[in-house]
Amino acid sequence: MKRISDHVFAIPVVDNETDLFESLWPLDEGVNYNSYVVIGSEGAAIVDTVHENFFDEYLEALKEIVDLENVKYVVVNHVEPDHSSSLRLLLEHLQNAKVVISKTGATLFNLPGEVLPVEEGNEISLGDVTLRFLMTPWTHWPETMVTYVPEDGVVFTCDLFGAYGAYPNLGAEDQDGYLLEARRYYVTVLSKYAKFVNSATAKIRSLNPKILAPGHGIVYSGDSLVQILDLYSDWSSGHREGRALILYGSMYGSVYDKVHTLLHLLEAEGVEVDALDLSREDWSYAMTFVLGADVVVIAYPTYDADVFPPVKYFLQTVLDKGLLDGRALYVIEAHGWSSSEQKIRALLDGKDIRRVLSFSQKQPLKISDLENLAAEIAAILGGSEQT
Ligand code: FEO
Repeated sequence: MKRISDHVFAIPVVDNETDLFESLWPLDEGVNYNSYVVIGSEGAAIVDTVHENFFDEYLEALKEIVDLENVKYVVVNHVEPDHSSSLRLLLEHLQNAKVVISKTGATLFNLPGEVLPVEEGNEISLGDVTLRFLMTPWTHWPETMVTYVPEDGVVFTCDLFGAYGAYPNLGAEDQDGYLLEARRYYVTVLSKYAKFVNSATAKIRSLNPKILAPGHGIVYSGDSLVQILDLYSDWSSGHREGRALILYGSMYGSVYDKVHTLLHLLEAEGVEVDALDLSREDWSYAMTFVLGADVVVIAYPTYDADVFPPVKYFLQTVLDKGLLDGRALYVIEAHGWSSSEQKIRALLDGKDIRRVLSFSQKQPLKISDLENLAAEIAAILGGSEQT
């Protein structure tokens, strides 16, 4: 438990048991579920809860902060179970509390207890402190909203500005490591909804908040608050870092050889470039690289007359999340008896495919092909003049 402003307390619960968030994304260092309590002169409100597996420790922490008889409201900014699965258990301990949720949420979900739907700008007074509700749909799900406490300048943002990792004190000692976990959370959970995330970030920025209090990760204030708002504005609006990225798979080494030749040629051209083996690289980390890439080279061996599976399914995932939009794409395709060029063109349909280089034992790639490719990529990135 930690007091974060005059009227607001935080209860960070650390989950070190779950191995994969959403059964997809590795939690090597765990994850926080942050719940908050707003205490006013005429009652208290709880804002978001925690995963039900941690309800007992959560309830003990809650009782240290507030007399449960004084809790008038439980605000559900987001219904996903990591934030709301404790609600039913919690209401068994609250005699006088209504459940506050967006009107969209009240339409889509059956929640326990007496439900009070709210719309944009609705307010609830707790005496000397106010809860104001701002609709931020699709900042993961359609029902999502944020709650603002104007007297303290606190915004409860749930998934927005969240991060993987365990932060029992709601602060980060390793700033670079934290930002990677925030970036990984953004690309895995929120990037599909970038347009909505961008407008929600602008709406929250316009409040000129003093504190951002998300459902995962740390509580932000001062420089860290400015930094996460700037990063979210950037990530959700065509972010680029002037880098090239090679995403590859290789079965017998011929693609690997081309990738490493190209990697060295690009470095010689002054290009900032990374190469990731999708047979081995965790997808969530690979997605953080895609976010920053201007140019993506996709290199793989044809498999069953189709795109190599680790490459194909990773591409489908990042395409679904919009992470390849606006990137210049190049393909290097190796095959034995049947090219998969039409398959990769169909997979990337509508995207900015600049060139597909196909090669086989009978039609090998020449070093000049890769030199020309490196020069073309360097010209896009401004690493050297095009010849
Ligand atoms: Fe952290 Fe969309 O739940």
